[in-house]
Amino acid sequence: MEKAKNQIEIYNNKQESSEDIAREIAQLGDFKEIEKELKEKDLFDKEKARVKKLFNESIDLADFPRKHEAVYELLTIQELYDIDTAEHCVKTYQIAKEKVEKVLSKNIILSRIIEEEGVDLERFYFACLTHDIGKVEIPDFIIKNTVKKDEWDEILVNMIEQGKITKKMLAKLELEPENIPSKDEILTQMKEKHLLAKQIVPVSRAISKEDIEKLENERHISADDSLMDIIDKHAEISERILNEKGFPVAARIVGQHHHKKDEESYPVATTSLQISADIADILHIVDVKQALESARSYKEEYFQIKILKILIEEHVYEEKINSKEVAYLLIKDDYNKLIKQDVFNNLNPEEEGMKKVVDDFIVKFEADDGKYKNDLDSWYEKHNMN
Ligand SMILES: [Fe+2]
Ligand SMILES: [Fe+2]
Repeated sequence: MEKAKNQIEIYNNKQESSEDIAREIAQLGDFKEIEKELKEKDLFDKEKARVKKLFNESIDLADFPRKHEAVYELLTIQELYDIDTAEHCVKTYQIAKEKVEKVLSKNIILSRIIEEEGVDLERFYFACLTHDIGKVEIPDFIIKNTVKKDEWDEILVNMIEQGKITKKMLAKLELEPENIPSKDEILTQMKEKHLLAKQIVPVSRAISKEDIEKLENERHISADDSLMDIIDKHAEISERILNEKGFPVAARIVGQHHHKKDEESYPVATTSLQISADIADILHIVDVKQALESARSYKEEYFQIKILKILIEEHVYEEKINSKEVAYLLIKDDYNKLIKQDVFNNLNPEEEGMKKVVDDFIVKFEADDGKYKNDLDSWYEKHNMN
């Protein structure tokens, strides 16, 4: 008994490590405040050194000749806030680098396109590495929300059965608010629009009262928004942070990494802006790919086909990507890799179905009468560099 008591005392007296304090500061919810506090408490340099050691092997500083300092300043704050997001960002940069530097179909090298459009590679890689920095201003109980898909579905079904579907939800489903839709109508529409329950259910249905209060009173975010509405705000926040730090080009790329084609903030089609949309698409695709890859719950080959299928159905066909040609080039590259790995020899029916989605997509670009053949040809023409 006495011994246990002593141990508790030792535990209570144990000083918080400087890393623990820095991690607490990273939860302040405001990038500038976090940076200021870390500097004032003399913690920033030590933490930067620690994070540099952690990612030294993964980040080639030769890619960032003028941004050594900035790379580790931003990455350190990201890492202190959430290690997983920091790792995701580093891997996104690594995959992007591999993809843009290699020779794709018809000798297209995306890095040349990026540079031709006046964005040097350093800025593009910097955007890849920092694209999620805005997450530090989203509360951690949102970012790290553990409600599972089944549970969201259950919440949604309950709402339907209790007649609690809101106007906001109907608007997202593009259903008329006048006549109340049946459960089947709602579920069909969700499937059609590739919407998940966590994208439409108000987050207030899935978090504690305390968290609702924190969200609304401290962060001024409505708990009627869905979990994904709130998480999606991070792209704009990333853009704002990078602008404030003096990186306007990376800021622009980052600000678009989740945008839908038809959203107002999507760049209008002047030549240079249009191209940076292509560049943002590269980041968007690599970002989704990395995020899906890191949630490994399937066997590898099934997984890779599934990733391509999701990219096609939920991102290209849903017009979240501006340049389907860029999507084609990157998807085709992965598809060729799977052929080389002999993955397609032994597929079960579900996997066959996924492969068909990918095949049909590729045919649209490659067949003489393919739906996207002309667009691809013009794209090649536009970007054909000698
Ligand atoms: Fe993101
Ligand atoms: Fe991301």
